[in-house]
Amino acid sequence: MNLTLRVWRQKNSQDAGKIAEYPAHDISPDMSFLEMLDVVNEELTRKGEDPIEFDSDCREGICGTCSLVINGVPHGAQYESGTAACQLHMRKFKDGEVITIEPWRAKAFPIIKDLVCDRSSFDRIIQAGGFVSVSTGGAPDANALPVGKPRAERAMDAAACIGCGACVAACKNASAMLFVSAKISHLASLPQGRVEARERALSMVAQMDKEGFGNCSNQSECEAVCPKEISVDFIAQLNREYLKTAL
Ligand code: SF4
Ligand code: FES
Repeated sequence: MNLTLRVWRQKNSQDAGKIAEYPAHDISPDMSFLEMLDVVNEELTRKGEDPIEFDSDCREGICGTCSLVINGVPHGAQYESGTAACQLHMRKFKDGEVITIEPWRAKAFPIIKDLVCDRSSFDRIIQAGGFVSVSTGGAPDANALPVGKPRAERAMDAAACIGCGACVAACKNASAMLFVSAKISHLASLPQGRVEARERALSMVAQMDKEGFGNCSNQSECEAVCPKEISVDFIAQLNREYLKTAL
């Protein structure tokens, strides 16, 4: 396949940035999107040009670092839903296609370079309450703390969030509600997490606001691009946890 890439290039957080065009020749349809970028970067390096900076780690949909907006949609979800950009294959694109690649755009995710943004605001939200600090002692016998199957399943569904930030990038308000609701619902669904559920909801939402994320307006763009298909139902649970405490 031969493609044309239009890539956001930005030297540092102060630079204005601009779109630059690069050809991508002889791309195998079996390559992943990131492998295609590797090929383009090898060519740029051979020519003595600055390679395109992008984040990646696991390359199998686990770490959440591959933060790419592909033709206007985070993770290229219009080509394949429920996958991270690293799991998107080039066979989903047409030969000769023009592909525009941009970073997450949100005030709370400042751009570091090219397609790499600083998502430490998510870490600070987790530090504000996304943990269990009660002493649970040694590992109890599994039967001593029974958790019903529906509740266990719900906790696992919420725990699937990989903290990628695509939900923020897709939202017109740059809201982090889907991410925060997944973390709060995961812990609030389990007996160990119930103890601090109320303080957790208040402190994580306060930190989310402090970081500059916007509010949810119930349009579900977040759910549509989430690589782990986290449901907006969790936002309803977050609102319930928050209101119970606030009232
Ligand atoms: S809710 Fe989905 S889109 Fe948002 S951070 Fe978690 S995995 Fe990424
Ligand atoms: S590189 Fe880890 S989820 Fe994409």
